[in-house]
Amino acid sequence: MIPTVTMRLVSALLLSGALALGVLAGPHSGLSCASASAGAAARAPAVPYEPSEPEVVTAMLRIAQVGPDDVVYDLGCGDGRIVIAAVKERGARGVCVDIDPERIRESRENARRAGVEDRITFLQRDLFETDIRDATVVMLFLWPEVNLRLRPKLFRELSPGARVVSHLHDMGDWQPEAVLLVPVNGETHEVYLWKIRR
Ligand SMILES: C[S@@+](CC[C@H](N)C(=O)[O-])C[C@H]1O[C@@H](n2cnc3c(N)ncnc32)[C@H](O)[C@@H]1O
Repeated sequence: MIPTVTMRLVSALLLSGALALGVLAGPHSGLSCASASAGAAARAPAVPYEPSEPEVVTAMLRIAQVGPDDVVYDLGCGDGRIVIAAVKERGARGVCVDIDPERIRESRENARRAGVEDRITFLQRDLFETDIRDATVVMLFLWPEVNLRLRPKLFRELSPGARVVSHLHDMGDWQPEAVLLVPVNGETHEVYLWKIRR
């Protein structure tokens, strides 16, 4: 895994060329979603794929206190690792949502190998067009701007008591209930927790 600082530097150097080519840097890079999306196809992922590290996945499950009564959504699930861990290690049910068909194929295959495919629903879909009303926990590793765009949907669709967890990026002026600082290869990754309250 390339260190965050290096990623930021490389991203800055390659910014103009990368944007011209429509190449997107990951959520670590510090590029804004809007600028990184310039020139990309309308249905291209708003946030490119970059997996959360295993220690971050563990922290995300821990901060949300995921248990057997939970339905855990990962909006932009990548290879499915967060939902698969929630199901396998915490007894939850899960929903993997990703706009990229390759990621959904990978998630399903990883879930099958882990023996938990029957407890997970796989949706190849834009996260903004996904009904999340039955989620008790929503996991996110997106962009700051995407988190902010998602906020109204979270308030509209989630029930009181539902938890929202974000790797690395906050929710603007929505204050988190807790933050875990997770050391990963000499860097610190923030994991934020919010609860829906009425
Ligand atoms: C940074 S990765 C996070 C993967 C996984 N959640 C994790 O933490 O390991 C972001 C993922 O979001 C997906 N994605 C981007 N825009 C999306 C959208 N509008 N709807 C659904 N998925 C999207 C990408 O395809 C990618 O797999």
